Amino acid sequence: MSLNVSGVQSLPSLAKLPSVDVVMMAAGKGTRMKSSLPKVLQKLAHLPLAGHVLETVRTLGVREVVVVTGHEAAQVEAALMPLAGDLALQFVRQEPQLGTGHAVQTAAPQLNDDAMVLVLSGDVPLTRAATLQALLDLSAGQHLALLTVQLPEPTGYGRIVRDGESVCEIVEHKDANASQRAIQEIYGGILAAPAARLKQWLSRLTNQNAQGEYYLTDVVKFAVADGVKVLAHQCDDPLEVAGVNSPVQLAELERAYQYRVALQLMERGVRLKDPARLDVRGRLDCATDVEIDVNCVFEGHVQLSEGVRIGPNCVLANCSIGPGTVIQAFTHIDGDMLGVRVGAGARIGPFARLRPGAELGEDVHIGNFVEVKNARLAKGAKANHLAYLGDAIVGERVNFGAGSITANYDGANKHQTVIEADVHVGSNCVLVAPVRLGAGSTIGGGSTITKDTVAGTLNVARGKQVSVANWKRPVKKAKN
Ligand code: UD1
Ligand code: MG
Repeated sequence: MSLNVSGVQSLPSLAKLPSVDVVMMAAGKGTRMKSSLPKVLQKLAHLPLAGHVLETVRTLGVREVVVVTGHEAAQVEAALMPLAGDLALQFVRQEPQLGTGHAVQTAAPQLNDDAMVLVLSGDVPLTRAATLQALLDLSAGQHLALLTVQLPEPTGYGRIVRDGESVCEIVEHKDANASQRAIQEIYGGILAAPAARLKQWLSRLTNQNAQGEYYLTDVVKFAVADGVKVLAHQCDDPLEVAGVNSPVQLAELERAYQYRVALQLMERGVRLKDPARLDVRGRLDCATDVEIDVNCVFEGHVQLSEGVRIGPNCVLANCSIGPGTVIQAFTHIDGDMLGVRVGAGARIGPFARLRPGAELGEDVHIGNFVEVKNARLAKGAKANHLAYLGDAIVGERVNFGAGSITANYDGANKHQTVIEADVHVGSNCVLVAPVRLGAGSTIGGGSTITKDTVAGTLNVARGKQVSVANWKRPVKKAKN
């Protein structure tokens, strides 16, 4: 069994609904983040906030997305373009930013008249695809549907003024009177509407309000006036509409996201020692009977095969780990662009470091303070303590002693070390690359090997031991 956890669940495509165009508002500055990075590019689980929104849209099966940029538009567009994948992203610039209504007005020429429009915010990352689908279903191609939520502390949000099932108005906090401010149902900032109607309502917006802005929320009044039903889809989870305005909120949503990922993993059988102490910043695929101890971080794409056990405080990025392998505490694995592959039944760590291009075969042992980079180790090879294997090919059953290294870099170029099967490298050896150690040869401890060795030979390359009898150690001079 394989599972994919990226924080969103798969849904069937929206074949039964009219085509959907998404508008993602991403022009705001985000002053309260106190950061030079635009708010929608702040990272949640290593992905920009707006990237999460795009992921959700992709899961929903929608392809057309109009992104409204403004503050640092070029930077936002450059960062989002590579995340488009199969989405058709169009950018429109809103300059200056005169409010959410003005943002959608800017996008309006790009919207197909016969489509349904889904308006999202680039700084609201945890909305579920299923919730957006429910909102689109509610709008049924003709109504104005609003996503709302009950908040015990609704200060700052637009309030939902109802008449039974229908919504009559959204009143922004700053424009609301005391009785309206007592309303706890708030507008979550997400709506669905028929495009042609929406365009018409947008053209009627004014900025006669407390903030002097063109409010998107005023479309409700026009829909009511035009006899169009305005319905609310109330969701139970305030996190789904939670925006990010400050570092504190960003950290809260990060934990909420990580908890969702942890629950999904456990539902599929992964055994987490503590779901509150796990961080998945990318995609984690796990087979059955995987165990993960506390404080582990997974980045990029990580694949864990059946029965893999990960000890506490490990960081694994862009790697695949074979069945039954044990990764012990404090191990750092980073495959980066080249990847790291670890075979079945291996033992890695504690305190091991595997870098890009490390390829370890079955039953390989890599112990504490051992670094492996761009090196292939065949079945049963072992480097158990304090060693460096870089740009190397290592044969089966090789034993690489404590403190030994491949000297792969001459100050200008990298060179390869080949260690054939059954070689025994003693402790504290320097293998000066390029060099080849013949099958079954033995390297005496403390040797600096600069020449190839012949199969089956013992090779010692160090100063001979000299013994001086009756040696008198220097004596400390007496102070005057
Ligand atoms: C908005 C809603 C409010 C709702 C709240 C939910 C309006 C008028 N009010 O208020 O009813 O309760 O969201 O979070 O819509 N943006 C632009 N261009 C602009 C202004 C904003 O692109 O000119 C973007 C922002 O970057 C952000 C989103 O629109 O992504 C929402 O804007 P924000 O200023 O956060 O609206 P709120 O005042 O929170
Ligand atoms: Mg807001």
